[in-house]
Amino acid sequence: MRIVLFGGPGAGKGTQAQKIVDHYHIPQISTGDILRKTAASASPLAMKIKKVMSRGKLVSDDLLKEIVAERLQQADCRPGFILDGYPRTTRQAHDLEETLQQRNLKLDAVLYIVVNEQELVTRLSRRGRADDIEETIRNRLKVYESSTRPVLNFYKEKMLLQKVNGVGTVVQVFVLIRNVLDTIKK
Ligand code: AP5
Repeated sequence: MRIVLFGGPGAGKGTQAQKIVDHYHIPQISTGDILRKTAASASPLAMKIKKVMSRGKLVSDDLLKEIVAERLQQADCRPGFILDGYPRTTRQAHDLEETLQQRNLKLDAVLYIVVNEQELVTRLSRRGRADDIEETIRNRLKVYESSTRPVLNFYKEKMLLQKVNGVGTVVQVFVLIRNVLDTIKK
């Protein structure tokens, strides 16, 4: 099962990805986590990434293409994977398609976790990660609207888009996700 978890910042992609990992035994590939790890070193690239992330902007499509292609090559991705936070530009969606095509693979679904903006802000403000300060949250939401939301059209046209209501308890949302994923598995 090869799926993309899509949604605004704070929609619950990471939270639900963990539950999918436990239930379906496929790895989560969180580009945010990979970038945070990379940014933690002292290299010039790390400093650059850190700066971009702390402003709530997007790291370059080219770098992300490389990171994701390398990760997808690893053996644990053979039975499938959950992409969390990628793609988030239309260019990244094209890049992903190219990367998968090179391996004769296709996505099974793009799960769009729908959460309204007010709830997103409430969740992020409560969490307290480095990029959860007010100004950065505002920028992340702006970037989501301008660069990431348009990716939905790309997957709608490919008939891969599945919407799930992301407002509710973590378990309630996961039940909805499972309903979708169980039909894909059949
Ligand atoms: P990333 O780490 O991907 O951040 P994000 O997309 O903004 O998403 P979050 O991790 O903040 O939220 P989430 O949807 O995973 O929700 P979560 O489960 O954590 O990216 C960070 C940065 O890295 C980007 O800004 C960018 O700079 C860079 N980056 C990453 N990918 C990139 C890419 N592809 N291209 C370019 N740059 C990239 O939940 C949020 C909070 O809500 C938690 O506290 C959680 O406990 C709580 N919560 C979860 N579910 C519920 C629920 N149902 N009810 C109540 N609370 C809930």
